[in-house]
Amino acid sequence: MTKTNVAILFGGISNEHEISCLSAKSILQEIDRTKFEITPIGITKSGEWVVFKDPIDFSTQAKLPQIDRELIEKFAKDKPSQNPPLELIQADVVFPILHGAWGEDGTVQGLLELHKVAYVGSGVLASSIGMHKPLTKLLFRQAGLLVSNWKTFTQKDWEQDRSQVLNEIADLNYPLFVKPARGGSSVGISKVEREADLIGAIEEALKHDAIVLVEEGITQAREIECGVLDGARRIVSVPAEIKVNPQHEFYDYQAKYLEEGAELVVPADLTSSQVKEISELALLAFKSLGCEGLARVDFFLRANGELFLNEINTMPGFTPISMYPRTFAASGIGFKELITQLLVEALSRKRGLR
Ligand SMILES: Nc1ncnc2c1ncn2[C@@H]1O[C@H](COP(=O)(O)OP(=O)(O)O)[C@@H](O)[C@H]1O
Ligand SMILES: [Mg+2]
Repeated sequence: MTKTNVAILFGGISNEHEISCLSAKSILQEIDRTKFEITPIGITKSGEWVVFKDPIDFSTQAKLPQIDRELIEKFAKDKPSQNPPLELIQADVVFPILHGAWGEDGTVQGLLELHKVAYVGSGVLASSIGMHKPLTKLLFRQAGLLVSNWKTFTQKDWEQDRSQVLNEIADLNYPLFVKPARGGSSVGISKVEREADLIGAIEEALKHDAIVLVEEGITQAREIECGVLDGARRIVSVPAEIKVNPQHEFYDYQAKYLEEGAELVVPADLTSSQVKEISELALLAFKSLGCEGLARVDFFLRANGELFLNEINTMPGFTPISMYPRTFAASGIGFKELITQLLVEALSRKRGLR
């Protein structure tokens, strides 16, 4: 049997570089090498491309690994290059396990489209919208899904007429969440309890993106997430709950990756009718953006039963503690099988505009 050539593309120039490396590390550990021939391809933080030998030993790396000089010296096949390598373009299928801007946002998907290479996950437009929080909310609302009220503005709006921007935000009820429009891993996000802290939060968000989203906080709500796997059949995983430790104000970067900041309860303690509703809403969210392959859909569940959509992640984390693989494991699809299904689905997709 000839094996399928799979390029695992990881790292990237976004602030989620390390998370991508962690995801790649677990995929490289678990992927079925009886079926797939692997070429790991890294993108360094400065945007250089590196073709690695398989396997890469990440064990000498810090808890959050990265494509640094040491990893390149030990495991790279060639010198880093400014251009995408032939191994990427000649792969049968690419698994772009990149999170955040310039990876999860349609840019790499566009590159792969131009080279007619199959790849795991959503196409150009769905990736791009999924990364853009205000546009995601707009499409969710259009599809009849519940989202918190929001305002959005650009750096230019802020510089040219700050009072106009602040006036618009004054329509929203506190607490507010101020976010870079196209961020991830909670980087640049602030919870704002009072007006006096608003400007600082906006300036923080503007450090990460020239588009800012300000939205109403959904208070006293449970955070529920589930996975969608769009393989031979569309399957929604069991929902899981994130219980953030009270010393964190919300599910911030520290809580996500660095400390024992949150407990993931898989599956979440929910009634069967809640599970059914979450599953239906997750599918609706997936379809409303035109996602493909996979996504993780994140909700807020209020005590009165209302389910708000928070966001959709078109390339969710694949670290050992990540929600997406864990919710599918709890749904009977193990990590190895999940990767196989995603790759098989990507290979079987008809070519066309995406
Ligand atoms: N409107 C909101 N109401 C309550 N909590 C929120 C709200 N928006 C964000 N949060 C908190 O901030 C975290 C990160 O926000 P999110 O929009 O999911 O950003 P990221 O894409 O970086 O994960 C959420 O998991 C949640 O804990
Ligand atoms: Mg999130």
